[in-house]
Amino acid sequence: MSAKKRPAPSRRLFLKGTAAAAASPLVAGCASLPPVLGVERPIRVGLIGCGGRGTGAALQAMRAKGTATCLVAMGDAFADRLDGSHQRLKTALGEENAHQLAVDEDHRFVGLDAFEKVIDSDLDCVILTTPPGFRPAHLRRAVEAGRHVFSEKPAAVDAPGVRSVLESAQIARSKGLSLVCGFCWRFNTRHRALWERVLGGQIGAVRTMYNNYNAGPIGTKPRQEGWTDMEWQLRNWHHFNWLSGDHITEQAVHSLDKMAWSFGDVPPERATAVGGRIARSGAESGNIFDHFSVTYEYPDGAKAFHMSRQIPNCAFQNNDYIFGTRGTATCKGWDPLHLIEGEQPWEYEGPGNDMYQQEHDELFASIRAEQPINQGEWLAHSTLLAIMGRMAAYTGQVITWEQALNSTERLGPEALEWGQLDVAPVAVPGRTPFA
Ligand SMILES: NC(=O)c1ccc[n+]([C@@H]2O[C@H](COP(=O)([O-])OP(=O)(O)OC[C@H]3O[C@@H](n4cnc5c(N)ncnc54)[C@H](O)[C@@H]3O)[C@@H](O)[C@H]2O)c1
Repeated sequence: MSAKKRPAPSRRLFLKGTAAAAASPLVAGCASLPPVLGVERPIRVGLIGCGGRGTGAALQAMRAKGTATCLVAMGDAFADRLDGSHQRLKTALGEENAHQLAVDEDHRFVGLDAFEKVIDSDLDCVILTTPPGFRPAHLRRAVEAGRHVFSEKPAAVDAPGVRSVLESAQIARSKGLSLVCGFCWRFNTRHRALWERVLGGQIGAVRTMYNNYNAGPIGTKPRQEGWTDMEWQLRNWHHFNWLSGDHITEQAVHSLDKMAWSFGDVPPERATAVGGRIARSGAESGNIFDHFSVTYEYPDGAKAFHMSRQIPNCAFQNNDYIFGTRGTATCKGWDPLHLIEGEQPWEYEGPGNDMYQQEHDELFASIRAEQPINQGEWLAHSTLLAIMGRMAAYTGQVITWEQALNSTERLGPEALEWGQLDVAPVAVPGRTPFA
């Protein structure tokens, strides 16, 4: 915990009158933002994790519809990542919107404690886009400090992390903070139209779902001279399960979130899985599997089947098929195709949207209206679906929802330090114990 006193977040972001706005403790660029909708004070945002998604999310925050926002602090483990992100934001904003990038030199924080310094800056909202292994701690700090949050998926990599996120969601609720999550497909107009019909009964009762996320591997970065084990693992974070949760948790969790959506966010009773590591090689590829197949069984007897793969030169597929008693729904997110066949056929023919922008439009509208959105439980539970599938695959055992939620297994080192960090062995079903 930093000894520095944290500035309290303003509960009233939108003071009436220019004098009040001018008096607010804003950096100059931010203060010069033009009034929006008759209010003067922009929402001040901090970014933690300045990689691909973080840079994109920061831009979306600054382009949030109908709301004045500015970025006032950035934090990353590495200076090169922070500088690259700042430069990309500068270019994307251009001269016209340059004032929204109000991160002075004193508010660019580098290191494993950068998150604390961003959160402790004078701001209203933080964007959490580091590898998910850090998310529970970052989220806790943010809500305790009274910050609104945009949190990327997944929420955590293990059950203690999921439980911590559930607690943080409660803290956010008790403080009237917004917590919006990055399960972006649920912000997609086409998906919303399809799932609205599925949940409205257009295909009857949902009995089965098949979803897949079969893709190629994510690239690795060879070790550079001078890198400690910690730096080497962070630079290759997707491949170490304490940082990513394995690819079922980091990537395929999107499919499992759509599975949760299809079943009204009721959790399954148990999961049975196979998985393994056939085609990964090289130390940078860490200790994660390259394929999973999981069966989830629901309390009413319905079953859902998930498959995910990260192996080169194999067929790509990332679709969802929902089977009901009176029809079937097909969702091909990338094509895109949103179709219902059966007693009441339907196909989506309207416009699409930018689902990532939609997340931020809704988050900042909720902050501006002081009507908090809290998606913490959804974020935690969909994350647990993936962790539960991974546990079943790693151990070879049938894992119940209760077991997964109450697991005491904590991935990763006790202390976060630059230096030596051994790689945990690759799991072997039948030998790796459930903990
Ligand atoms: N919703 C989506 O479609 C989507 C798409 C891509 C990524 N994501 C998620 O966003 C998150 C980030 O992914 P990415 O693609 O931007 O990865 P990335 O590697 O491009 O960025 C992660 C950044 O976090 C930094 N970082 C690592 N540890 C840190 C720490 N302890 N403190 C501060 N910074 C730290 C890294 O240096 C890096 O700059 C992940 O959770 C990922 O699953 C979501």
